[in-house]
Amino acid sequence: MYGTRRIFLGGLCLLLLLQVAVGLDNGLALKPPMGWMSWERFRCITDCKLYPDECISENLFRRHADLLVSEGYADVGYEYVIIDDCWLEKDRDNRTQKLVPDRKRFPNGLNTLADHIHDKGLKFGLYQDFGTNTCAGYPGVIKHMQLDAQTFADWDVDYVKLDGCYANLTDMVEGYPEFGRLLNETGRPMVYSCSWPAYQEDAGEIPDYESLKKHCNLWRNWDDIEDSLESLMQIIDYFGKNQDRIQPHGGPGHWNDPDMLLLGNYGLSYDQSKLQMAIWAIMAAPLIMSNDLAAVRPEIKAILQNRAVIAVDQDELGIQGRRILTRNLIEVWQRPITPVTKSGQHSYAVAFVSRRDDGAPYRIPFTVKDLGLNNPNGYQVQDLYANRKLGVYQTDAQFFTRVNPNGVTFYKFTAL
Ligand code: GLA
Repeated sequence: MYGTRRIFLGGLCLLLLLQVAVGLDNGLALKPPMGWMSWERFRCITDCKLYPDECISENLFRRHADLLVSEGYADVGYEYVIIDDCWLEKDRDNRTQKLVPDRKRFPNGLNTLADHIHDKGLKFGLYQDFGTNTCAGYPGVIKHMQLDAQTFADWDVDYVKLDGCYANLTDMVEGYPEFGRLLNETGRPMVYSCSWPAYQEDAGEIPDYESLKKHCNLWRNWDDIEDSLESLMQIIDYFGKNQDRIQPHGGPGHWNDPDMLLLGNYGLSYDQSKLQMAIWAIMAAPLIMSNDLAAVRPEIKAILQNRAVIAVDQDELGIQGRRILTRNLIEVWQRPITPVTKSGQHSYAVAFVSRRDDGAPYRIPFTVKDLGLNNPNGYQVQDLYANRKLGVYQTDAQFFTRVNPNGVTFYKFTAL
């Protein structure tokens, strides 16, 4: 009896050890995460007297959890409510060394907020930093990794964004996997978003994608997005230019992250908003909004809630798309998606991005073959933003599209 129990316990330990040894295997983020995060829009606004509806506070996150549901975002898949930087007291608790949420702005602690978010059917995300400090100067995790991972679990966190300010690049190579392991060891499933490759790219180093895939559910590849077309296009160009080394590594459970959606803020026009949403869907990017959900105009909300576009982003194959050609300043981006025919032919999402600003919409023909689509039986084509069926196209057929300046057209080619 004793012996059997010993063997059983021994086996259990081995299993646990094995689980730890293979790294992140948390079964999470099988589709690109969708949700809302504070940073791009609300930055580090901490003065709640002057800006009661905008400061990083319990109120902001409660309000956005409520709005995600009442405005219909939760229905189409937006799920995570993520606190970014500036939620902490400047010092840890003297006695326990635990992190302390700002006492004035989060007067009830984070469990009460987590409960509210969970009661709404949503999930709770939290920002921290691998280094000595967060980018905005609050305490980071580096000297308290185990304590902080456990504290996150105790606060019922479902998603952790771990930034990389105030840290050595060399420490990150082992430190990020280590923090992921500590999160796993708490037994609470938490999506793990790593910023480590963005810091490596900044320093001219090539990230180790195999390690990232093993240890992180998603990772920020590059610079922070800002509220302008210029910033958006720089990010799109970075992913286009470097796609050979980036694209193959995105997939279920491990995604490249080009950063937050700007839609609903100040910088992007209607056409530019469609452009970001379409290219994020092509890139299988996390769809994390950062806006004031009470102030999003109806036509922008319709883009954010476009089910056909979201379905491309969330396609179950999880294959990231690519920029395949540019002609007359019109870029063609293409992503293989479902349904796949019995003979193995993929369907495709195809976006035409105009880099033109010469005034009128620009009309341009491509053969279906030009788009990299070679199914001998052709494709049923649907305009995803106009929600219109365009009929059947064979591979030799000419396909015309007309794209607004700095805009996009977006189609689904369903293989027949
Ligand atoms: C870095 C990150 C941003 C944001 C800020 C917060 O710049 O890349 O996404 O989290 O820090 O300070």
